[in-house]
Amino acid sequence: MFTISDQEYRQLSAFIEKHTGIHLGPRKKSLVQSRLQQTLEKRKLETFDQYYVFLTNDSTGAAMKELTEKLTTNHTYFMRERDHFAYLQHHVLPYLEKSVSSKDLRIWSAGCSYGQEPYTIAMILDDYFGANKFAWDTKVLATDISPRVIEEAKLGVYKNEDVLQLPERWRSKHFQAYDGERTAVKQHIKQEVLYRPLNLIHPFPFRQPFHVIFCRNVMIYFDEHVRADLLRRFYNSLLPGGYLFIGHSESLQREETSFRYVMPAVYRK
Ligand SMILES: C[S@@+](CC[C@H](N)C(=O)[O-])C[C@H]1O[C@@H](n2cnc3c(N)ncnc32)[C@H](O)[C@@H]1O
Repeated sequence: MFTISDQEYRQLSAFIEKHTGIHLGPRKKSLVQSRLQQTLEKRKLETFDQYYVFLTNDSTGAAMKELTEKLTTNHTYFMRERDHFAYLQHHVLPYLEKSVSSKDLRIWSAGCSYGQEPYTIAMILDDYFGANKFAWDTKVLATDISPRVIEEAKLGVYKNEDVLQLPERWRSKHFQAYDGERTAVKQHIKQEVLYRPLNLIHPFPFRQPFHVIFCRNVMIYFDEHVRADLLRRFYNSLLPGGYLFIGHSESLQREETSFRYVMPAVYRK
């Protein structure tokens, strides 16, 4: 068993925060210690100090990638916080349908994890536009810091029970049996989502602004400065009238943002 000292933990958690925005705080010490046991063993390292030296000298990026995979929380599910999807369907999309003359919708799921969030958005878009969808470019951009979850999301294969909670109409139209235990998203929905790895604390690489950004249950892991900076960049990346959806356990303080409150966890530029 490798034990992490307070000093080693301070050093490592500061490094993690600098590179991922994830603020671990003192209470996550034993979690970090246990999640990294295998890594130290595999690399034949004897202490967390040696691990830190290895991590900071690795120019390939592989060690950082592995560390990020070990420490991120990817919990998600279809239709999570379902009132957001109802709001998207009944308020946001009617507004966009009327106001976006280019018929090019720009929706971003930032911190998309295994893809249930962007696929839910794609199915809502399919419902809303129906036979008129061909006239619109409705592709959803979906990004996450973890290349591993992005690869899984692209496959679009889920346990049968994860899909059961969806309406029967969606299950028969958008899903097909994969093997006895799993169900796959059909191609016509998969092709509506564009997946890319992206670290939200780095400058955004986008040239065009978005109509809607979903960044739900991601900022809870960040400290207030990283969060404030990210909110400012989300604001600048939205068109006037654009919407930001955050997680229900997150809220924006009036003084930290220029966004206007719409309803719990929904804000507007
Ligand atoms: C709890 S999941 C949320 C998934 C989905 N948005 C939802 O609400 O169900 C948080 C996701 O944020 C991602 N994440 C954490 N730090 C990130 C960062 N700096 N840049 C981009 N994604 C990050 C994690 O990899 C994880 O997949």
